[in-house]
Amino acid sequence: MVQAIYISDIGNHEGHEVSLNGWLYNKRSSGKLHFLQLRDGTGTIQCVMFKGDVSPDMFQQADHLPQESSLTVTGTVRADARSPIGFEVSVKSLTVHQLAHEYPITPKEHGVAFLLDHRHLWLRSARQHAILRVRSEIIGACRDYFDDHGFTLLDAPIFTPAACEGTTTLFPVKYFDDTVYLTQSGQLYMEAGAMAFGKVYCFGPTFRAEKSKTRRHLTEFWMIEPEVAYCDLNGDMDLAEDFIEYVVQRVLTKRQKELTALERDLPKLANIKKPFPRISYGEAIELLQKKGIDIQWGADFGGDDETIISESFDRPVIIHRYPTENKAFYMKADPENPKVALCMDVLGPEGYGEIIGGGQREDDLALLEKKIRDHGLPEQAFSWYLDLRRYGSVPHAGFGMGIERMVSWLTGLHHVREAIPFPRMLERVTP
Ligand code: 4AD
Ligand code: MG
Repeated sequence: MVQAIYISDIGNHEGHEVSLNGWLYNKRSSGKLHFLQLRDGTGTIQCVMFKGDVSPDMFQQADHLPQESSLTVTGTVRADARSPIGFEVSVKSLTVHQLAHEYPITPKEHGVAFLLDHRHLWLRSARQHAILRVRSEIIGACRDYFDDHGFTLLDAPIFTPAACEGTTTLFPVKYFDDTVYLTQSGQLYMEAGAMAFGKVYCFGPTFRAEKSKTRRHLTEFWMIEPEVAYCDLNGDMDLAEDFIEYVVQRVLTKRQKELTALERDLPKLANIKKPFPRISYGEAIELLQKKGIDIQWGADFGGDDETIISESFDRPVIIHRYPTENKAFYMKADPENPKVALCMDVLGPEGYGEIIGGGQREDDLALLEKKIRDHGLPEQAFSWYLDLRRYGSVPHAGFGMGIERMVSWLTGLHHVREAIPFPRMLERVTP
């Protein structure tokens, strides 16, 4: 019985006969030879079938194999200096599991809408592989960072009774005789967790009924959210900075091959080291005004404003103390200037915009009750949350990082839709 191996492991089998299970990526023929590009998910390898080595039927069959047919190839591994992976296989036999007819994604160029309609197949292409492997590494790095820094993973619920990030982007769900919402953020639950465990994080899908079509917004995205008791805004910024540096450097080390395949500028990522510049919202407004943007204190940054700010720095920039008025109810006002909140956003460089949002939470019961009323939120739904201020309230802070924003930045994507296996957007919930 010939050993079945993965292409990624081919280097350990030079000179031996192996079998490879995979799919036909591409094929060309010249007279007595068929060159079959086989992919198995771990890599792609050229399998060379010489007419004299196989039966006439098998040679004939290989001549008519359509792209993406599923195959097992058996043959001898040979070193080959011309091969991108250093090896090829001399085919001795071929088993066809299924003949794929008219695979829709051909090597020619396709439009994005067509590719998104065929996302279940598009995942097989080399570029999508590289992006999604980087995503997988980012998620692993995020988890490892918090696990190794004394955080406890505490899963937040998906069905929630109330809004965390404003009522305009809630997805209602019928829940027996009630209406509940898909979670926008696990934060409020992480605050409960921080009071119980000190340092916690959650990682899961979050939902926003974003009506805007931008290159940064999904309706379903994955967020990692740490929350720390006895932590203030400065501590929160320190944590965000240390965390981002770790994730970027880890991905750079472990996924260099994928980043290179994506033609990512590696020195720019190597440069992502602490400290990151920290500027106040007020300073960011001045920066925009100096660049000729017509914006006044109090206004929200649009996507283009974020792009301009983030292009002004060679590493992520932390913007802190935004006006309280436009911000979520839970944010703590700065005691030195109540017009601004003790919050922060981290903007990725090269125009990538907001990667992280977070800050210090309002820890005073009376002020929080007032904020809930002022924001017109249903007090009943927040009574449990207010218990956290009744029983041992302490200063605490945390943040949320959108995984797809991070993937887009690190892989150099123009649009966040390629940063998740199956994107959900305003006009897309299939496949
Ligand atoms: O700034 P946001 O809304 O903050 C929160 O949800 C806080 N409750 C998090 C916390 O403090 N625990 O969202 C956090 C991050 C953003 O910086 C961005 O990376 C990402 O989530 N994000 C989105 N990503 C893709 N599509 C969307 N529609 C997103 N909205 C937010
Ligand atoms: Mg935000």
